[in-house]
Amino acid sequence: MPDSKFIHSGEEKKTQVQSMFDGIAGRYDFLNHFLSFGIDHYWRKQSVKALNMDDGQTLLDVACGTGDQGFSALKATDIQVVGLDFSFNMLELAKKKIDKRNLADKFEVIQGDAEHLPFQDSTFDALSISYGIRNVGTISAALSEFYRVLKPGGRLSILEFAEPEGWFFGGLYRFYFDHILPKIAGMLSNKSAYTYLPESVRHFPDRGDFKALLASEGFDWVRHRNLTFGMTVIYSAVK
Ligand SMILES: C[S@@+](CC[C@H](N)C(=O)[O-])C[C@H]1O[C@@H](n2cnc3c(N)ncnc32)[C@H](O)[C@@H]1O
Repeated sequence: MPDSKFIHSGEEKKTQVQSMFDGIAGRYDFLNHFLSFGIDHYWRKQSVKALNMDDGQTLLDVACGTGDQGFSALKATDIQVVGLDFSFNMLELAKKKIDKRNLADKFEVIQGDAEHLPFQDSTFDALSISYGIRNVGTISAALSEFYRVLKPGGRLSILEFAEPEGWFFGGLYRFYFDHILPKIAGMLSNKSAYTYLPESVRHFPDRGDFKALLASEGFDWVRHRNLTFGMTVIYSAVK
């Protein structure tokens, strides 16, 4: 495993991640769009497409943060969205955004843990998680919960950062993520959260290992698609 300043698995990781996101919540949206040059809107749209939802269906967006993945899904289809996150401050911002967009009848958020979802088996038609799976304490525990709460035939779409595969974009990415991003973020927010980001990407399983993990939890049709030179990956699968 690569060098670590942070904890990358288990219950202690959860406490670290929860307080990190509670701490940066106020600046999260601004930094997200600013540091990704706004490309995150496109990445979210692609994740929604992978779910192939019909009007009237239900979506669980796990680790919903301030709600942007849910909003992206609601732009594309007339569905019901439940967002779940364990950071109180991120959820407070999501609630404000839902009210501002008059979407309270379509989008509700609840506080909870991705590894212990407070829903019955086979509840949702689709499940998304964007830039969240890398942050959970035990990835297999979360995936097993995703499988449990999805209906048979339900689709899963996971959006996550990855290291680009080629040497050129890989090098460019590492330079930006390791040196530029933490400096800019440090000036505008909490620097340690943005030092955690590249470190956590390095600790996340590579594409093949992660797909194997999805298959071992029972998912079929496990696929991945690289976006923007592979700095973000969509993993999709079906229960
Ligand atoms: C990088 S943010 C992503 C937020 C949002 N999905 C987005 O795309 O902007 C990661 C989110 O995962 C949440 N999170 C991490 N581990 C979690 C867990 N075990 N249960 C629930 N939420 C979790 C954090 O609180 C945080 O809001």
